[in-house]
Amino acid sequence: MKKIFAANWKLFKSPTETRNFFKSFKEVSAKATGDLVFFPSAISLEAASETVKGSNIAFGAQNCYVQVQGAFTGENSAQIVKELGGQYILIGHSERRQLFGETDALIADKVALTQSLGLIPMLCIGETLQEREATHTFRVLETQLLLGLAKADKAKPIVIAYEPVWAIGTGKVATPEQVAETHTDVHNILTKMGFTAPILYGGSVKPDNAGTLIKQPHVSGFLVGGASLEVDSFIKIASV
Ligand code: 13P
Repeated sequence: MKKIFAANWKLFKSPTETRNFFKSFKEVSAKATGDLVFFPSAISLEAASETVKGSNIAFGAQNCYVQVQGAFTGENSAQIVKELGGQYILIGHSERRQLFGETDALIADKVALTQSLGLIPMLCIGETLQEREATHTFRVLETQLLLGLAKADKAKPIVIAYEPVWAIGTGKVATPEQVAETHTDVHNILTKMGFTAPILYGGSVKPDNAGTLIKQPHVSGFLVGGASLEVDSFIKIASV
């Protein structure tokens, strides 16, 4: 399966910073050994769209609403992302689930809408430390997949990003053994459900651990936060 290296910029980088990043990144992007996907903040999407035009760099939004237009103050439209040339929507990131109260039911609607527009949903799943310590990881991930993909079209592309919540922004990366075991579980759950999808790992991925993690079974790439904000560190990760 082709590798995917995705960058989640969260609430970082203005339009000017976005343009400057891509001007430098385009000079090295040919080194990537898989597809490149960036998720800038919504206000910087147009800057991204203009600067990556004609390159091997894809982009998308970090979130969208379940309607494409209407009286929904403050929300983002997947239709507008598409008009800008975006190809992906990140859905159900743990920060959306934890800080903004997103439920699996809402996430399922976002996945369905994204696919219906011809965009690719990148669905994030992951357990908390408490859930892992209570040995509930498998059950949590299975539930998130069953509910989050309840309205998904198996015939259309979808990407899964496994991001253990305890490894996000903490510097505590999952061990290669934990990644191997959990990605195999996720792969098996997806297969049982009838889905074929690349499974990315996310959570404190850095240039010095990416080489080992990419070799683990059913790891098709990464979803990178902090280390994706610098050209050097992200291209090192994307060229493993
Ligand atoms: P970090 O790479 O900063 O841990 O963030 C991971 C993440 O949340 C990507 O979506």
